[in-house]
Amino acid sequence: MINYKESIAKALEANIDVLSYDEILTLVEHPKNTEMGDYAFPCFKLAKAFKKAPNAIAEELASKVSNEELFSKVEAIAGFLNFTVNSEHFAKNIIEEVLKLNSKYGASSIGANKKTIIEYSSVNIAKPFHMGHIRSTMIGESLHRIYKFLGYDTVAINHLGDYGTQFGKLIVAYKLWGDKELIDANPIPELLKIYVKFHQEAEDNPSLEDEARAWFTKLENGDEEAVALWTLFKDMSLKVFNRVYGKLGVTFDSYAGESFYSDKMPAIVKELRDKNIVEKSEGAEIVNLEPYGLTPALVTKKDGSSLYLTRDLAAAKYRKEHYNFDKNIYVVGSAQKLHFQQWIKIVELMGYDWYKDCVHVEFGMVALEDGALSTRKGNVAFLEDVLDKAVEQTLLIINEKSPELENKEAVARQIGVGAVVFQELYTSRTKDYSFSLEKTLSFEGETGPYVQYTHARACSVLRKVEINDDVAPDYSALTDEASKDVVRTLSKFGEIVALAHKNYEPHTVARYAIELAQGFNRFYHDNPILVDDKQIRAARVALVQATEIVLKSALHLVCLEAPEKM
Ligand code: ARG
Repeated sequence: MINYKESIAKALEANIDVLSYDEILTLVEHPKNTEMGDYAFPCFKLAKAFKKAPNAIAEELASKVSNEELFSKVEAIAGFLNFTVNSEHFAKNIIEEVLKLNSKYGASSIGANKKTIIEYSSVNIAKPFHMGHIRSTMIGESLHRIYKFLGYDTVAINHLGDYGTQFGKLIVAYKLWGDKELIDANPIPELLKIYVKFHQEAEDNPSLEDEARAWFTKLENGDEEAVALWTLFKDMSLKVFNRVYGKLGVTFDSYAGESFYSDKMPAIVKELRDKNIVEKSEGAEIVNLEPYGLTPALVTKKDGSSLYLTRDLAAAKYRKEHYNFDKNIYVVGSAQKLHFQQWIKIVELMGYDWYKDCVHVEFGMVALEDGALSTRKGNVAFLEDVLDKAVEQTLLIINEKSPELENKEAVARQIGVGAVVFQELYTSRTKDYSFSLEKTLSFEGETGPYVQYTHARACSVLRKVEINDDVAPDYSALTDEASKDVVRTLSKFGEIVALAHKNYEPHTVARYAIELAQGFNRFYHDNPILVDDKQIRAARVALVQATEIVLKSALHLVCLEAPEKM
């Protein structure tokens, strides 16, 4: 296919000595206002070298780079060289490309042979998988899919919170108050209940804390009973977590959590001591990070036991040795920003230059709007309950609006879960946002169901026509504003995915999906598809096909399924 940006860059390269081809290529942009054209090249940087005003440069270049086949207009406007594509040629070129590449359209191989670790979700054993975890889980899964789409060799890791002194407490609580049957039936809420009880009782009876510490030490030393109980908690929790991941379509390659690194701790502490990075402070060991504007990092406690931060050092080193990553991404909330700054700095102080490849992809908080979300189980909203509620309400809507639909339950699950996930990814990750189930489930506006519905609409059109490859589409039928807009949006998909990957921002793709769906619905409204003229019909059908393909890919990248009927 003809890559318009590259064609522009090539034509300009021959006329601009002071910029390289790549520099030119990165400067080519899309004007915000499409009346200004489809592509633009800013000439401001050239003023010095050309000893001319930017607009005069643009005028000079305009006469040299015109290409009538590709562009209907090349003109200088306010210091920009603006290109308006030849709509017919553009439509043919883009649509043929989408149809040819199908689900590979927009993908690339920029990640070939680059190992990328993406750590996300990282929930805590025996604790609720609550609404707050949706962010790490879904931003991470989406990045996982985007990176794969771009050819990266990915490893998805769930760094389970399965270690630490809280497990000593839980063991004590279980031995005192644990009711195996109740816990089996409803593990997380029941474990949470006895864990909360532990804290209440410990206020009056501090000796419980000593007992808990003793049990944690036993666990660290491999005591049979301690390990058996810890394994029980972990297995029960994972069963629940995996059920939730299943509903979300989230997968991991590894569940190596904090406990996985427990036997790797002594070596890392020794290395820190040998490299003279730690200093003693009131019986504990710290790394002084003051010279770097950070607070001191605690790496061993007074009783010699290790810490969350130390486990992250061990984990990062293990990952480098085991996977030899090119990039090691952590999708973890902004609340832990300091933690990541600290340990990444320590990796640098240890002399490892791969500290540069460790990236904390942070995100803001999610607040809950509707009272409907607070559960009987207390004031935390379990993510699974929210998902189930969304599915349940979607099924009610389907039963009312399309009672005839096949596989109603399955479709309700795809839409209900999709609605929750999309709402999550639609907000830029660094912003806090509040979640409202009602807003989420509306099929209108900027929601997941709206995109899914648009996709299903395209599928429904395609079911009604026979696709006849012998008829040459008349692409001049796609030169009206609405059609052209869809083609333009389709043409940007690859750039959008690359941008989302560069900024670790799935919301770029979510917004794109909305833009494409809105554009398609305008096209659908303005243009009858099943017209008599076979060639016009073929062109419009081709646009529907191309849109269906790209909507489906975009939905997949933001972790939504694309039902064909709804
Ligand atoms: N389990 C932790 C929590 O819930 C998140 C773990 C983040 N990842 C890490 N490598 N520190 O807060």
